[in-house]
Amino acid sequence: MSDKTAIVFGAGGGIGAALAEALGDTHRVIALSRRSDPPIELTDEATIAAAADALPEAALMVDCTGFLHDDRFGPEKSWKQLSADSLAHNFAINTIGPALLMKHFLPKLPRDAPAVFATLSAKVGSIADNGYGGWYGYRASKAALNQIVKTASIELARKWKQAALVAVHPGTVDTPLSQPFSKAGLSVRPPEEAAREIARLLLSLDAGSNGRFLSYDGSELPW
Ligand SMILES: NC(=O)c1ccc[n+]([C@@H]2O[C@H](COP(=O)([O-])OP(=O)(O)OC[C@H]3O[C@@H](n4cnc5c(N)ncnc54)[C@H](OP(=O)(O)O)[C@@H]3O)[C@@H](O)[C@H]2O)c1
Repeated sequence: MSDKTAIVFGAGGGIGAALAEALGDTHRVIALSRRSDPPIELTDEATIAAAADALPEAALMVDCTGFLHDDRFGPEKSWKQLSADSLAHNFAINTIGPALLMKHFLPKLPRDAPAVFATLSAKVGSIADNGYGGWYGYRASKAALNQIVKTASIELARKWKQAALVAVHPGTVDTPLSQPFSKAGLSVRPPEEAAREIARLLLSLDAGSNGRFLSYDGSELPW
């Protein structure tokens, strides 16, 4: 058993489950979800605080939570479809939840050793790369997540000299989140393949990577 510990948030999801499995080759993995013990419900900060209190320090943490659609809300094609409830839900899951994970778990990265906290963002959250429009709530909540990552990375660097906080675009992956929107011709990878690529990226990061927005292949994305 490895003495290195990794925490995967959203480990019940398509990418999260595959990543928890892939990181098992190199780490002792703590897989957290709404159904784990301790559970993490992003809309309930007390669950995040309680999990952080209960768990040991870990040098690798990956947030694989996220929201694109459910029975109530889906990505908007036009401003005519904007709704306060849908926007609020996107921000609750894609921005505020991950920000609270950072609040409670960044302090649990070791200060005297290399450490990584990665959050799965999305290329469509890039403002510079937005060429198609649409998907207002998802795009905006991921852009706001990217700003939280950048801002927290600056604070992190003051005391965690060997740590990197990054936003990672996983590419298009065949999961419940992407399935209704995968189009012919789009390169959709199985979660196991994506997880191997993301794990390789995470293990290659160091303090020089802090505050970056990276694609799964290690290339830099524009904010
Ligand atoms: N798949 C893609 O093509 C793609 C592309 C770009 C970016 N991404 C990003 O990659 C990440 C993972 O996506 P995925 O494709 O693996 O999606 P997924 O299979 O739908 O997994 C999403 C995860 O988020 C968790 N989650 C949702 N609401 C939550 C809440 N209120 N509290 C706690 N956990 C909650 C889900 O937990 P439950 O299991 O409990 O429902 C699930 O584990 C997301 O941030 C997504 O935006 C994915």
